[in-house]
Amino acid sequence: MDLLLKDKIALITASSKGLGLATARQLALEGALVVINGRDEKNLLEAKQELENDLAAQVFAVSGDVSHPDFPTFLMQEIQYHFDGLDILVTNAGGPPAGTLDDFSNEDWENALQATFLSHVRLIQAAKPLLMKSQTPSILTITSAAVKQPMPNMILSNSIRAATVGLTKSLANELGPLGIRVNSILPGWTDTERVQKLMQARADANHTTVAEEYQKQACESPMRRIGKPKEFARVAAFLVSPAASYINGVMLVVDGGLNKGLF
Ligand SMILES: NC(=O)c1ccc[n+]([C@@H]2O[C@H](COP(=O)([O-])OP(=O)(O)OC[C@H]3O[C@@H](n4cnc5c(N)ncnc54)[C@H](OP(=O)(O)O)[C@@H]3O)[C@@H](O)[C@H]2O)c1
Repeated sequence: MDLLLKDKIALITASSKGLGLATARQLALEGALVVINGRDEKNLLEAKQELENDLAAQVFAVSGDVSHPDFPTFLMQEIQYHFDGLDILVTNAGGPPAGTLDDFSNEDWENALQATFLSHVRLIQAAKPLLMKSQTPSILTITSAAVKQPMPNMILSNSIRAATVGLTKSLANELGPLGIRVNSILPGWTDTERVQKLMQARADANHTTVAEEYQKQACESPMRRIGKPKEFARVAAFLVSPAASYINGVMLVVDGGLNKGLF
């Protein structure tokens, strides 16, 4: 199936690694011009080069911190200047640290709110005028399967991501009349650097090995494995594409069936 992504301009934030990079790669494979982002300039340029070399893709990179209140406006000014429009916005940010109620100060909660919720709000606010110039505008927020079923030892993520899902559903109603689709993917365990670090922390706490912790997590899934970034990215590329033109306001869990609830 042709996803009709050729020459679309797609911004994927927090995309020098992990789910963001896999999504940028998939969109580039489908012919989109991708704008990637991350805080560490060296990693970002490596990702840009990797995409350009592997796919002969058109890649534009803007380094910066999406949790900083001024950065989304700067980012959209860059896109306005270079492309004068935007077709696809994928809002992503690094995940908050693992821990429980006693582990976090007010400042930790504030920081998590900035990165895990307010970054999505500000990116969408700043991108809206550019998206309104597109014939096929769409927004995808990357959240977490923890919205359906809170994960142990992840109180910041479990609490704050619910707000981003509320935002996504509200905006699907609010921006739908403007032709802008807004959806979210709720990923389950997917093998990225973040997950490798979380598994290392579990191994340290449990006096086990990282391989054992991966195995324990895999056993909880009906598929007996965790996901691959490409499996997430293919779904993301479909959801933001014009091929999904009547999908709006969907919170799609991509977790291999880990969540056992009916809804
Ligand atoms: N992987 C999973 O199993 C899973 C499951 C559920 C939810 N999620 C969520 O999905 C998101 C992506 O996860 P991931 O596994 O892909 O993480 P990852 O492997 O740690 O990659 C994170 C990427 O985001 C960038 N980044 C982090 N903070 C940023 C910021 N404030 N501004 C701009 N860029 C930033 C990082 O580059 P720099 O560090 O250089 O900025 C890196 O490119 C996270 O919110 C995570 O919690 C992941």
